[in-house]
Amino acid sequence: MGSVSLKIGDGTSRFRRAAMYSSAINITKFFSLLTTILFALYAFTSSPKDRQNHLLHHTRNNISLISEHVSLILREIDSSKKKLAKIDKERLGYESLDLSRPHLANELKLFLQPRQLPMGKDSRTGITEMVASVGHSCVKSVDLLSRYMAYKVSGPCPDDWSVAQKLILRGCEPLPRRRCFAKSVPKVGLDPFPISLWKPVGDKNVIWSGLECKSFECLNSKKMSRGCVGCFDLVGGYENQKFVKSRGKNEFLIDDVLALGSGGVRIGFDIGGGSGTFAARMAERNVTVITSTLNIDAPISEFIAARGLFPLFLSLDHRFPFYDNTFDFVHVAGGLYMGERPEKLEFLMFDIDRILRAGGLFWLDNFCCPNNEKKSDLISLIERFTYKKLKWVVGEKVDSAGSGKIEVYLSAVLQKPVRA
Ligand SMILES: *[C@@H]1O[C@H](CO)[C@@H](O)[C@H](O)[C@H]1NC(C)=O
Ligand SMILES: *[C@@H]1O[C@H](CO)[C@@H](O)[C@H](O)[C@H]1NC(C)=O
Repeated sequence: MGSVSLKIGDGTSRFRRAAMYSSAINITKFFSLLTTILFALYAFTSSPKDRQNHLLHHTRNNISLISEHVSLILREIDSSKKKLAKIDKERLGYESLDLSRPHLANELKLFLQPRQLPMGKDSRTGITEMVASVGHSCVKSVDLLSRYMAYKVSGPCPDDWSVAQKLILRGCEPLPRRRCFAKSVPKVGLDPFPISLWKPVGDKNVIWSGLECKSFECLNSKKMSRGCVGCFDLVGGYENQKFVKSRGKNEFLIDDVLALGSGGVRIGFDIGGGSGTFAARMAERNVTVITSTLNIDAPISEFIAARGLFPLFLSLDHRFPFYDNTFDFVHVAGGLYMGERPEKLEFLMFDIDRILRAGGLFWLDNFCCPNNEKKSDLISLIERFTYKKLKWVVGEKVDSAGSGKIEVYLSAVLQKPVRA
């Protein structure tokens, strides 16, 4: 056949669908519907005289009874329709990625085919073949995925990382492009560490394709997200005062927080770290920080790397690629937009807890909530982890991104307990 189908669901959804139909509108109800309609037809189409007689003889079968039946049935049909729509939606994402469909990039088919292990079954793990890992959510964006995979093997990669990032943001991770040469730029004038931490990065050192701005000057004048207001200006703006000068009780100083760690703070993870300034300040204190980032509207990852810091290109839907109890601290800045899915924040909190060592610090830095209700949710979530509150400041302030709206914030340093 030459075509492979990647089965993801259990393949029984067609059966479930049929079962749904028969259970939702079962035979009894169908008959009741039929009787009601026939009766209604009879009542309304017969002559006025007949009708009067009829109504006299059947006083119990009155209009309100009919409408009650009809509305019950309509409700039933409506709820079945909703259930069916839900099943269809689930099927879309999980049943199968059909590699025999037309116009699918050949490289994608090749990538996804399972590969037999050359030496047969592996005695230690018991596996016989390698399965290419590509997220199930890719199925939902298979046309975009196919476009992304339409490249020449061993040739230059298409200059389209914005497509890649779109896929990542739709949960399509890890990306399957592996066999082309990524576009590169000559990085000229890089400074040695630690001078590199605060040297402006040249516009020519990064790739601007797919971005609205074509220079850091443009980015600095643009309204960026909350964690990056003028964050590429390392010389003139506020960026070089962050974490060393406080503008209010909600802004903690790095040295104060480090003092809480009693010397054992050596490696950390920064989420929502803007242009890497937190990592830079930590680097000056001989603390190694990995900054998680995507290139949303700016070449953030390249900027952080040019400063001599470690960017991790990863969406927050991803389980962190670190082993349990790894970090001495985790720093989270700004707000994390979780849309209408509050459980996403819970997934994130558990993963942060997992990679943080016992006794390690969890620093929430001006963590914003759009309103008091969201704040209460956040606080009750955090308190479930029973961390020790070393610092805890809750208050209100005007949104720093300049919307003028009042936001609730939480700044805290929490210590992970030793759990039995
Ligand atoms: C119509 O049926 C309803 C429900 O069975 C009953 O409560 C009502 O009294 C009836 N009305 C007439 C006019 O018979
Ligand atoms: C960082 O490490 C270097 C080299 O060991 C040392 O000279 C310097 O004093 C340290 N800086 C801090 C702030 O501890």
